[in-house]
Amino acid sequence: MRISQRSIEVVRETANIVEVASEFTALRRQGARFAGLCPYPDHSEKTPSFGVTPDRGFYYCFGCQRGGDAIKLVMDLKSLSFSEAVSYIAERSGVELEFEGSPADAQAARERNKRRRMVHKALAAATAYYHKYLLRSGSTEARQARKYLENRGLNDSTIEEFRLGFAPPRGSSGFVGAARKLGIERQALDAAGLLSPRGGERFLGRITFPISDRRGRIVGFGARAMGDDHPKYLNSPETEIFTKRDLLYGFPQAAEAIRKQQSVLVVEGYTDVLMLYQAGIKNAVATLGTATTPAHLRSLSGYADKIHVLFDPDDAGEKAIERASAAAAELKLDLRVLRLPEDPADWLLENSAEDFSKLLANSIPALEYVFRRKTERARGAEAAERSRIVSEIKDLITEIEDPVFHGDAVRLASEALGVNPETLQQRRSPAASRSTRGPAPADPLQRAGHELLALLLSRPDLGEEPMKNGVGGPSLSEPFMLADEDFANEDQTRIFSLLKEHAGQDLDSLIADERARPMMDQIGALSSAGEKLYPSEAAIREAWLRVGILSHERAKRQTPDYDEKDRIQVETLRLKDALRAVATES
Ligand code: UTP
Ligand code: MN
Repeated sequence: MRISQRSIEVVRETANIVEVASEFTALRRQGARFAGLCPYPDHSEKTPSFGVTPDRGFYYCFGCQRGGDAIKLVMDLKSLSFSEAVSYIAERSGVELEFEGSPADAQAARERNKRRRMVHKALAAATAYYHKYLLRSGSTEARQARKYLENRGLNDSTIEEFRLGFAPPRGSSGFVGAARKLGIERQALDAAGLLSPRGGERFLGRITFPISDRRGRIVGFGARAMGDDHPKYLNSPETEIFTKRDLLYGFPQAAEAIRKQQSVLVVEGYTDVLMLYQAGIKNAVATLGTATTPAHLRSLSGYADKIHVLFDPDDAGEKAIERASAAAAELKLDLRVLRLPEDPADWLLENSAEDFSKLLANSIPALEYVFRRKTERARGAEAAERSRIVSEIKDLITEIEDPVFHGDAVRLASEALGVNPETLQQRRSPAASRSTRGPAPADPLQRAGHELLALLLSRPDLGEEPMKNGVGGPSLSEPFMLADEDFANEDQTRIFSLLKEHAGQDLDSLIADERARPMMDQIGALSSAGEKLYPSEAAIREAWLRVGILSHERAKRQTPDYDEKDRIQVETLRLKDALRAVATES
């Protein structure tokens, strides 16, 4: 859903550019303007050339020649989309956003905003409650928790800065009781993921690690058992605002160091972030029990250009690094990997921060790591396997758009494989290029479905009409609706049916749907493929009809009944007419 033009104007007017810019750099008044060091990460300077003019609501940097309004600044420096930036500023300046679309949509959006605010409130209150309980309570359990953290080597200032807490064990009135007094409804606690499936408090008797989003708002918890309870960490369930696969633990605390150093270290555990921070390595964040995904890299790319990933070299980890390294090349990030004999938290109990920095300096570029692993496998493999790996390597190289990276990759691979660089250089034909990511489906119906879904995912707004009302044509008595069964396979069917349910909503709302989670990679690949297909209303109608036609042809082949075959044939011809009509009109 789009933010209304009026709201955008109100946000522009209300936004205090000095306040917004001050979040990123220290400003000093100079008459009617303010000046400071340029906050753009790629422009480091010693004398201030960044100026802000409050009465025009604009900023401009003489050094790097970038300028704009508050929204632009937030978009650039926080790597947010336009509407994310508008929402961010609206929230800080207390502007209530209005949305375009039907009044019902607007009402739904207002309700969603209200629900979200309650959820944020519940999480903030829980954080404060658990934190205070950990620090102050005289109960045996709280004392044990403090002792536990001390034994792990965590000191008070780290505990305070990261707002660690302890959720009182069963038997006390706990946070649920406190929330009641604060006027927080049970429904909000539930929506915030603070309750267990049985309705009790979820994190009872555990040490709580609040997890924030990039804006610094707490969105969930990881909670560690003190003993050998299973699971070791109990996390918040996926909620509207807690999406494990793109959150990074410790981000708000690390943001400043990340920006300053233009580099970030991604580790695997909450405690690793804490111990590194305590050792003075303040630019570390942790994924939440997942490998580093391209989504993580994308969000970090706005703050850093060098990313170190500490990872587990198991099979899943290897695959993830491969994907990450392709994404990094696209984002022009310097991605490096390193391995330690144990978790950094444990390693730092025995070793110094300087030793750690030495390890970092010896990390290897991810691309090189991936090539090495692949070539190692290619060397020992039989001819068929070897040629498959070589072609994988070629594909990887083809994905790299940056010419410098591209050259490096070719050199590395040809050295390692002992093959002529030219054989690695050849570009694939445009049709089979990366726009379809992953093997292009061979079956025409599957290919048509792939294309339609890609278009719909990249421009959900254009898909609303056909999704809701179908696609019409001069020869059709009524608009043609696609059914789930029209698609070639289960995956496509599932994505289509999700899209249909979210017709008219943006991609975010689809992605927030729990059922979309297992299909996230496909959805991501499809939507980026869609962007390269030049989405338009006509393109969607064409693809829609093509799927319909091919699905009819499949049905015709499959039915043994000749009358049925004829009937299908007639419909197919009508659809073909409709397709021609769309093609000529566009
Ligand atoms: P680890 O098992 O390595 O935990 O899982 P850790 O961070 O080293 O924990 P300590 O040092 O023993 O306290 C790494 C990460 O995987 C996720 C958490 O995000 C954890 O930080 N995880 C692990 C879970 O979500 N649940 C679990 O049960 C275990
Ligand atoms: Mn550990």
